[in-house]
Amino acid sequence: MTEKEVSITINGETKTAEVEPRMLLVHFIREIAGLTGTHVGCDTTNCGACTVIMDGRAVKSCTILAVQADGKKITTIEGLSKTPGKLHPVQKAFVDKHGLQCGYCTSGMVLTSFWLLNKKKKVSEEEIREAISGNLCRCTGYESIVDSIEEAQRNLEKEGEYTEEEIPVRRGR
Ligand code: FES
Ligand code: FES
Repeated sequence: MTEKEVSITINGETKTAEVEPRMLLVHFIREIAGLTGTHVGCDTTNCGACTVIMDGRAVKSCTILAVQADGKKITTIEGLSKTPGKLHPVQKAFVDKHGLQCGYCTSGMVLTSFWLLNKKKKVSEEEIREAISGNLCRCTGYESIVDSIEEAQRNLEKEGEYTEEEIPVRRGR
């Protein structure tokens, strides 16, 4: 199969590689960029474990081909906190409110929550549940995840930390 050169900016660093047209974005992130915090749970767009932010939107990276992400900006869980050694307020909320057990779904949950809370400052429990409806968790029963996202909302309000400058909705673009 003829390979194609793609360049994708992940967490501010541009990675260029020749890839097969069938390569999924999640495999580019994990295998070429070496960022294994983005998980693969199903490969069929069901579980949300592979969620990343692409040009300001939460997307399932197993649903997108690497060639479709050529020239795009991606944020993965590794790039969420801009301060080394410090958790992003959304990550901190998941720790404080026990929003994880095995952790397999967690990077996807955190990034979906981050996207939601950047899109809209004040969200209801119903909006939280709707936003995470594409992210499956086999461990927690979701209650502690919803609590974590509500805590994240409070953290962000307090700290005013919105670190993803590509999020277009927050900036009114
Ligand atoms: S691995 Fe992408 S949705 Fe499950
Ligand atoms: S914490 Fe185990 S799948 Fe969610």
